[in-house]
Amino acid sequence: MKLAIPKERQDGETRVAASPETVKKLVALGLDVTVEAGAGAHASIADAVFAEAGAKIAASEAEALKDADLVFKVRAPSDEEIGLMKRGAMLAAILSPYDDKARLKKYADAGVNAFAMEFMPRITRAQSMDVLSSQSNLAGYKAAVNAAAKFTRATPMMMTAAGTIAPARAFVMGVGVAGLQAIATAKRLGCIVSATDVRSATKEQVESLGGTFVMVESSESGDAAGGYAKEMSDEYKRAQAALVAEHIKKQDIVITTALIPGRPAPVLVTEEMVKSMKPGSIIVDLAAERGGNCPLTEPGKTVVKHGVTIIGDLNVAGQLSVDASALYAKNLLNFITPLIDKETKSLKIDWADEIITGTCLTKDGQVIHPAFREGGN
Ligand code: NAI
Repeated sequence: MKLAIPKERQDGETRVAASPETVKKLVALGLDVTVEAGAGAHASIADAVFAEAGAKIAASEAEALKDADLVFKVRAPSDEEIGLMKRGAMLAAILSPYDDKARLKKYADAGVNAFAMEFMPRITRAQSMDVLSSQSNLAGYKAAVNAAAKFTRATPMMMTAAGTIAPARAFVMGVGVAGLQAIATAKRLGCIVSATDVRSATKEQVESLGGTFVMVESSESGDAAGGYAKEMSDEYKRAQAALVAEHIKKQDIVITTALIPGRPAPVLVTEEMVKSMKPGSIIVDLAAERGGNCPLTEPGKTVVKHGVTIIGDLNVAGQLSVDASALYAKNLLNFITPLIDKETKSLKIDWADEIITGTCLTKDGQVIHPAFREGGN
């Protein structure tokens, strides 16, 4: 069974869907692994290193994809790439189907069985396959580091003969995987950290990391299925805005990570709030890819508005391309290993398994995922 790892072609994508470690393990599983030349270039993995791990190196994408039964990618394939895949091929990648629902039909029409890795159910068995967690964790760390790098003051308290420097105050909005790592990193950088979330379960997590929890007093719960947040009522949003408005004035660094699956990111930091912040303050908006938690965020750019630097980097995990690729590749390895029959070395998929029903978008020419098939929402 041939597995292809093409080079990523989307602008700004630095990651690759395999590492030397995963190639070795995939070869040991009986797969014939082909990596396109240059696929690991942005993650510091030379073709020769992939070859040493047991991969064949294909000179072109067409050669890599030709007759591949399995395709691992980071991002969704282009139309041209879909055209190069054989009917019946299985594709696993971060497919962002909510951003381009029409693409699903293209996978179906091409007979590609497409799996969206970001839809991995949040169950214990699937933790090692969870790409959102592996990538968000790195993004949260990098958000705090990037904030400190742009901040024109030191972050930790420093008592020197020439005077004392006060510690920076960092406020993390949205305490999922990225938020928790941002809190831990800001703490290590010496900041005084506070955080907020609509899910009450996060209070204990914030406090265990040494942060202060800031939360609206309300009987309304933000918990939705799978540990995700739901969209809150207008009344809650008003109370939250008032609380945040008071708190944010005193902050030096604000890191926003709030997301609601399948919806635009909620607005948490309004223009008025930005105006109230101290000049030189920093906002890192990790929700930039989904529109941003601040309306002044310009996705993909760093801008200064009302004296506040707003960082709207996209693909923040990709800034750590080596680690992000290694962890992503490991997630894919953990996903595919139980699907390979040890005797026949071919795919043996239990289509009723919740890991499969949760991630599979198209199968045998049909869009089958409940959120996207006809009549889905
Ligand atoms: P996410 O990336 O979907 O959202 C980030 C955070 O923003 C969440 O904590 C969410 O509650 C918060 N948020 C949304 N709207 C908000 C608002 N208006 N104001 C403030 N905060 C808001 O979250 P992520 O990181 O994907 O985690 C989602 C859940 O999945 C968590 O409960 C996490 O613990 C759980 N999880 C479970 C895993 C497993 O069991 N395998 C693995 C990873 C995460």
